[in-house]
Amino acid sequence: MSTTVLMGAQWGDEGKGKIIDVLTENVDFVVRYQGGSNAGHTVEVGDQKFVLHLIPSGILRENTKNIVANGVVVNLISIKEEIDGLLKDGVDVTGRLFVSDRAQIVFPYHQLLDAAKEAACSAETKIGTTKRGIGPAYADKAFRTGLRMGDLLDQNFPRLLKSRAEAANKELAFMGAETFDVDALIAQFVELAEFMKPFIVDTVVMLNEAVVAKKNILFEGAQGTMLDIEFGTYPFVTSSSTTSGGAATGSGVAPHCIDKVVGVIKAYTTRVGEGPFPTELFDDAGKHLAEVGSEFGATTGRPRRCGWFDAVVGKYASMINGVDYWAMTKLDVLDELETLKICVAYECDGVTYTSVPSNVRILEKCKPVYEEMPGWCCSTKDVTEYDQLPDAAKAYVARLCELTDAKLGILSVGPKRSSTLRIAL
Ligand code: GDP
Ligand code: IMO
Ligand code: MG
Repeated sequence: MSTTVLMGAQWGDEGKGKIIDVLTENVDFVVRYQGGSNAGHTVEVGDQKFVLHLIPSGILRENTKNIVANGVVVNLISIKEEIDGLLKDGVDVTGRLFVSDRAQIVFPYHQLLDAAKEAACSAETKIGTTKRGIGPAYADKAFRTGLRMGDLLDQNFPRLLKSRAEAANKELAFMGAETFDVDALIAQFVELAEFMKPFIVDTVVMLNEAVVAKKNILFEGAQGTMLDIEFGTYPFVTSSSTTSGGAATGSGVAPHCIDKVVGVIKAYTTRVGEGPFPTELFDDAGKHLAEVGSEFGATTGRPRRCGWFDAVVGKYASMINGVDYWAMTKLDVLDELETLKICVAYECDGVTYTSVPSNVRILEKCKPVYEEMPGWCCSTKDVTEYDQLPDAAKAYVARLCELTDAKLGILSVGPKRSSTLRIAL
């Protein structure tokens, strides 16, 4: 049995969905512990492509139970759409999907507030959020004005929602944004509450019973370390703890019950939304990564910014999360490049940084210090064993692991299950 946390090591979209799907062959529970429908996790199974936002990526394996734990903020409209969509594609979630009674609910007014707050920002302060209402929902949680999944089971729910919705309308009006019809919202959510009732359970008890029964549990992180509310490029971050520590608070499973941490890391770097990105490329190499890597957001469709691998970020993520193994993805995207650059430090105003500075104004001005390695200039797409890789590819991957203080567990060379080299996991 094992309890494993899997999280993103960069700015999200590292390929977590694919790796979760690969690892869930022998897993009993897959658990989302933070974030919400801002996530977009892609899983390709045969000819079918699924993009999951709130439902754990284990749902495509019949043997798994899938938990949306207390740390997640749940958009009921979005989760219903996902449940219905999966059913259309032949995946029945009945008896396999459980949502924590302690998880916060994202209401449409959170999305309106998200959009209004972004619209009120200057070009310098805009975050470039997914506009899924994530920040306002977590703000309500911290402010203790949120409603939770368990409140849907309470006969007072319409009254509770009315008072929250009226307050949100006042805030929207104050910001000069469009307001909404409170009674229509209540009617919509009373209906959604009926739909959601069968899924709501005390997942803290359920998960801790699974731990005692020595079940295999896989925690599925959303976003990535550099978007973490504490450790990311604040304020250009999301509003939750995306790092491995978040798995304990976000699920109610105690830290000492976690056996292993797997970090998902791309063989280069991408970011979507605003904020500093030291190795970002604006040249042909950047365009090549975007095109060959199909770097478009799985949730918003926005083009992702692309750049060279940043080992300063990798090492920082390895340290904060306690990464035991990397699942390194998208090596195949580098197949045609003659020379590869790796950022090993930053320089700013005569100072050399070997860890990520906390101040974004400094990070923004940092220039990457690169070392170069030769590319392999041949396809790795059909490689099925690590030993079949060209020497230059092995050397590149080994150097990334060396610079970031973690061992290689999995290497991914394509979006499909079959394009996965299992080394130590
Ligand atoms: P997540 O948010 O971390 O789950 O990642 P996304 O699903 O948003 O983005 C990763 C994208 O890369 C998806 O389109 C995956 O299908 C794709 N992908 C995953 N692993 C690989 C890989 O090794 N090679 C290639 N070419 N694509 C991959
Ligand atoms: P997955 O799980 C990449 C980014 C947004 C924005 C910032 C804040 O698919 O890796 P938010 O809507 O959360 O308030 O936006 O975080 N962001 C992501 N970037 N992948 C994600 O999720 C992301 N979720 C949020 O683009 O910069
Ligand atoms: Mg994604």
